[in-house]
Amino acid sequence: MTNLNQAWFDRAQAVIPGGVDSPVRSFRSVGGTPYTVVRGLGAYVEDVEGTRYLDFVQSYGASLLGHAHPEVVEVLREAVTQGTTFGAPTPGEVLLAEAMTQRVTGLEQVRLVSSGTEAVMSAVRLARGATRRDKIVKFDGCYHGHSDALLVAGGSGVAQMGLPGSAGVTAGAVGDTIVAPYNVVPRLDETVAAVLVEPVAANMNLVAPTEGFLAGLRAECDRVGALLIFDEVITGFRLDLAGAEQYFGVTPDLWCFGKVIGGGLPVGAFGGSRRVLSSLAPLGPVYQAGTLSGNPLATAAGAKVLSLVAPADYDALAARVASFAARLTEAVESAGLYAAAPAEGPLLGLFLAREPFAAPANFDEVKVLCENGLYRPFFHAMLERKVALAPGAYEILFVSMAHSDSDLDYAVEMVAQAAKVAARS
Ligand SMILES: Cc1ncc(COP(=O)(O)O)c(C=O)c1O
Repeated sequence: MTNLNQAWFDRAQAVIPGGVDSPVRSFRSVGGTPYTVVRGLGAYVEDVEGTRYLDFVQSYGASLLGHAHPEVVEVLREAVTQGTTFGAPTPGEVLLAEAMTQRVTGLEQVRLVSSGTEAVMSAVRLARGATRRDKIVKFDGCYHGHSDALLVAGGSGVAQMGLPGSAGVTAGAVGDTIVAPYNVVPRLDETVAAVLVEPVAANMNLVAPTEGFLAGLRAECDRVGALLIFDEVITGFRLDLAGAEQYFGVTPDLWCFGKVIGGGLPVGAFGGSRRVLSSLAPLGPVYQAGTLSGNPLATAAGAKVLSLVAPADYDALAARVASFAARLTEAVESAGLYAAAPAEGPLLGLFLAREPFAAPANFDEVKVLCENGLYRPFFHAMLERKVALAPGAYEILFVSMAHSDSDLDYAVEMVAQAAKVAARS
């Protein structure tokens, strides 16, 4: 068979740096040539050679219902005939904002943007503007998009490439960013505008917050008058219907969203109370804008997705993921390796090792596991068996609502085989 994946990737590399529009897709940390996807349906994607993969990437969490859900496709078909962008208010953005604010207690207003990066960048600016303070605290191994101030000690692709941050980011841009270890409540002072946290760290594989960590952040922020920002770009409307606030019982001052709320189209949002959001232009002095913000296609798809899921769906998915996690661990251990598959709601991580280990609680512990060389052969052995995991050990598995029990059974069987391959490597 002609190697169409290689041919497309060669063409891509000629005109796109590294052949990818986002470094995590590049296979840099696992080696080899990425498969080039032509279509996706439910839990599966198909590449240019016609190979179907059981997909645990799911656009890094953007698709909750699986690819090309028929009702989402239908709503998009309808929306596209009405025009795709106007530069004027639309009903669609109101409907999505209503759907979000109705679900999340305390989230009174949202401003829609076009990516998670924009959402977090704007929330940080708003926090600084509203508090008139400069410093931001972020946690080692959390990823908050690629805006300058936050591109330090990041997880996900930054970690995969082995980078401490990024060239091109000035010392000044990160001079007000303080990095603290995850799962330790830092001592703040009155220069801190905001503490920014992934309520479940899902860009350093998966690290759940330890008991009291999020509540401790809340209390410490209150003590010094700093704002607490939950970056829910991954957890929002995926952890459960209302995200981390309901799940952990801790209320932030600002929320950032992305991924699920665009139903597979480019969207992001940040929000909070009316009082804090009133600092935002046109009401207040903090400027933020976007030509395609609140795009009619993205808002239609996002609102449709939210309308299709009920609390029971999240509970059912979380229960299936918990049992999947246990079976994955057994499957790896049947091959003579050790595993931890931490699950938080429907979010699932997977760590492999040759020796027994405790599930990591911070980025330093994660790095030891993710750099032990096992993921690379494991990833390729899975891909050969038509199961697509993210091409990097720092990512998590996204089990969508379209993954059936037999899909998960198949994945467990393949994990047992792939772990044997990794063990021999
Ligand atoms: C927690 C978190 N925040 C922000 C972002 C940035 O979102 P985007 O890639 O849509 O810019 C990501 C992306 O993976 C993320 O996981």
